[in-house]
Amino acid sequence: MFEVQNLRYRHILDIPYLHIRPHALTCILGESGSGKTTLLKMFNRMLSPDSGRIVFQGRELEYWASVALRRTLPMLPQTPVIFPGSIRDNVLAGLRLSGSGSRGTGEGPGKVPGEVPSNVPGEGPGEGPGKVPRAVPGEVPGAVPGKVPGKPEEDRIRELLDALKLKKKPEDNAQVLSGGERQRLSVARLVLMDTDAALLDEPSAALDDNTEDAVLHFLASLVRREGKTLVVVTHSRHMAETCADEILSMEELRRS
Ligand SMILES: Nc1ncnc2c1ncn2[C@@H]1O[C@H](COP(=O)(O)OP(=O)(O)OP(=O)(O)O)[C@@H](O)[C@H]1O
Ligand SMILES: [Mg+2]
Repeated sequence: MFEVQNLRYRHILDIPYLHIRPHALTCILGESGSGKTTLLKMFNRMLSPDSGRIVFQGRELEYWASVALRRTLPMLPQTPVIFPGSIRDNVLAGLRLSGSGSRGTGEGPGKVPGEVPSNVPGEGPGEGPGKVPRAVPGEVPGAVPGKVPGKPEEDRIRELLDALKLKKKPEDNAQVLSGGERQRLSVARLVLMDTDAALLDEPSAALDDNTEDAVLHFLASLVRREGKTLVVVTHSRHMAETCADEILSMEELRRS
C-alpha cells in the first residue's frame, strides 16, 4: 500500500526503504521520540519529506489531493479530540467529515475529513497553523447535536462501543470521559468511517492490559474479516507480537 524510498525529514527521519502491505495490520514500534508520529503524518501529507518518495496505492503522494488522501486514509491522532456533545455526536463526527453520513455531510469547502482530530495545537511535530483547517471550537463538525440517527447507524454505534468495551450509552456526555475512554471513542469514530485503510497513532496508549487487548483484537478482526489495511503505531511490543501481520521497528528502518 505504501512504498517509501530514501525518505528524509529534518534530523528526524532517514529511511532508505519501507514497504507496507495492503490488507494487513502493520505495527510501527519505536522508542519515544524516534519519529513514529512524524512518519504517520508523512503518510497522510500533514508533513512533506525534505527528500525521497512516498508512493501510496501506486501513485506518488504529491499527486494525491490532501482531502482525497485523508478521505481514503484517515488518521487517528495520538491525542484524542473530543467535541462538546454526546458520545453519539462524537462518533458520528467522522462520518459527517468524510462526507459519508446518511443525513448529509455538513462538509464545507476545505474541511478535511478524518483529520479534524489531528489539528490539535501541540499534538505533534510540524503542524503550522493553517496546514489543516481548524474545527470551530465548541462545535461537532457537521453534526446535529443530540439528534438520534437512523436505526442502522445507532445499532452500529452501540456495537462499536460494545466491541471497544466502552461501557457508556450513546447519549452520555463525551466531555466527561476518561483518557482511555476518549481514546476508544475516537477509535469508534474512525472505524465508523469504514474506509479501506487507516493510520492509528497509539490507539491503546492510555489503556490497561485487558482493555488494550480488546481494542487490538478488534482492530485485528477488521483486517482479518474485512480486509482492511491498518498502520498502527504502538509502544507495546506485546501488542505488536500478538496482533500484527508485520512489525516495523523505527530503529531498524533508519539508515545505519
Ligand atoms: N517541528 C519539529 N521541529 C523539530 N523537531 C521536532 C519537530 N517535531 C518533532 N520533533 C522531534 O522529532 C522527534 C520525533 O518526534 P515524534 O513525535 O515523531 O516521535 P514519536 O516516535 O511519535 O514519539 P512518542 O512515542 O513520544 O509519541 C522528537 O525528538 C521531537 O522532539
Ligand atoms: Mg508519537
